[in-house]
Amino acid sequence: MAEKQISCFAPAKINLTLDVLGKREDGYHALKSVMQAVDLRDTLTFTALDSPEIHIACSAAELNGPDNLVYRAADLLKRYTGFAGGARAEIEKHIPAQGGLGGGSSDGAITILALNRFWNLGLSYETMAHLAAQIGSDTPFFIYGPTAYIEGRGEFVTPLPPLAETWLVLIKPPVQVSTARVFQTLTPDNYTDGSVSDTVAAALRASGIAPLDLPYINALERGVMQQYPQVADTRRIALELGARHVRMSGSGPTLYTLCATRAEAETLCAALVDRAIMAWAVKTLAAEEYPLGETGIR
Ligand code: C5P
Repeated sequence: MAEKQISCFAPAKINLTLDVLGKREDGYHALKSVMQAVDLRDTLTFTALDSPEIHIACSAAELNGPDNLVYRAADLLKRYTGFAGGARAEIEKHIPAQGGLGGGSSDGAITILALNRFWNLGLSYETMAHLAAQIGSDTPFFIYGPTAYIEGRGEFVTPLPPLAETWLVLIKPPVQVSTARVFQTLTPDNYTDGSVSDTVAAALRASGIAPLDLPYINALERGVMQQYPQVADTRRIALELGARHVRMSGSGPTLYTLCATRAEAETLCAALVDRAIMAWAVKTLAAEEYPLGETGIR
């Protein structure tokens, strides 16, 4: 009997590195990045509908429209495959929107993985990643996860051996950042040559790197810190509270700090929350944990 409902998790990501090589003719920027999925998750539940529509119900009211990448992914799948059925999608948001953690992209990609199974579409990973690239630059990563090397504008994804399990603290400065604006205001003096991403990818392939020794670069960080002083302020507070280092994920503003132990992450997280700063102690996801919850859609 066909399933009537499927439930799965859509995890956040961090950029362990983010090199911006330059601006392309299509207006996007050429990137090299090592991305890692982490254990802060939205929950998606799809229920079969007799009608051909896609209905979405999102716990964050402002994300309840057709711009939601869950809607766009489901609609794209229907158009690409000609599938005639519909679904109701319930989205429980935990990943902050516009945070640099890929929450919307993850929801979109996991929708493709989930509906491919739910609707028996039989699409290959390559095809799903190709479709994912049509709804966002970060989206193809989440088709593969949990650790991968990203090139192009985000559409070329090479899975990497996962980082050893690492606890970290995600720290959300009190500001929303537009990815488009961050890229628009980026100047060539922020471009980097990709060597840090290449080094980290090579080290992960050789399994030769302790997480706390990972070299880091984020070519967007300087611009974000300049345009949004709240981000620099939040970093300063985290450092004062004992963070070993503070890094930025994607186009920000979310910051993260890698920790030696779970206890270290939880202590720092509690100290940040005491200062009224949004923070989460989470761990990196391993291959067998990616993506997907009870039903398991791999
Ligand atoms: O692809 P996505 O809609 O997520 O990208 C948001 C914006 O970020 C794009 O409109 C573009 O301005 C910028 N961007 C970029 N280069 C990338 C990815 C995104 O310039 N590789």
